Amino acid sequence: MQVYGLVGNPVGHSLSPPMHEAAYEATGVDARYVTFEPELSAIEAAITGADALGIAGLNVTIPFKQDVLELVDPDPLAERIGAVNTIDFGPDGPVGYNTDAAGVTRALERHGVELDGSAAVVVGAGGAGRAAAFALADAGSSVHIANRTPAKAEELASAVPGATGGGLDTLDRIHDADILVNATSVGMEAPDETPVPASYLHADLAVLDAVYTPIETRLLREAADAGAVTVDGAWMLLLQGVEAFEVWTGLDAPVEAMNTALRSHLS
Ligand code: ATR
Repeated sequence: MQVYGLVGNPVGHSLSPPMHEAAYEATGVDARYVTFEPELSAIEAAITGADALGIAGLNVTIPFKQDVLELVDPDPLAERIGAVNTIDFGPDGPVGYNTDAAGVTRALERHGVELDGSAAVVVGAGGAGRAAAFALADAGSSVHIANRTPAKAEELASAVPGATGGGLDTLDRIHDADILVNATSVGMEAPDETPVPASYLHADLAVLDAVYTPIETRLLREAADAGAVTVDGAWMLLLQGVEAFEVWTGLDAPVEAMNTALRSHLS
């Protein structure tokens, strides 16, 4: 039996265990998925120990995604993003991936959104914003990053091919955009809050909200009212997990089984 898991602090409410265990059940992979919550100072010991114990793979979440970069051999995309959310423990040691990026592109593509040649606005320049900006640029979108702290958006934009960055006063770029990604935490556990005023939303837009608590955010409600395509944050969570399962097992992930398990735990 293989052991996979999630390393973070805290990890108590994670939806990854039911999602991955549903995938093992659907494919007949003999594995378990467990959560680990090391002390903040113990992440290096945790990764070394996991490798020594023969753990097959780990997801990594807040606050360790940046720290583990130097503890693994990162693939080029994870290195550019500067964060690892998936570790595969192979014969040559731990290899790091960032499947959050694929979570963004696969979620949009699954809803029929054409990425190549599109114009995208990413709101937020933290971990989720970095993954979204690189993923969309690599898929052929021209990316604008708007962030509350403009310097962070400008710094990220300088690393992302063809991207521009600015403060929230540049949200008017959404008027001419095809894709809007909320990569801030605005709206999380706050159904009345939105990162983007409704006046910017329009019918030619696809809106992906990384927030999935609640599953129907104010941003997505107002986007639907404006006639936009809406993609909720559970798709991003699901499809980063799908990508991680595929990295670890080399199998096609049972997306429907994972989606059903995930959504049964969300309201
Ligand atoms: P994550 O890893 O989930 O992206 P993060 O790195 O803490 O989390 O980044 C949070 C993002 O949400 C940042 O872009 C942050 O903006 P700042 O860089 O200015 O801090 C953004 N954010 C958080 N609260 C916000 C708010 N009330 N209004 C606008 N942006 C907000």
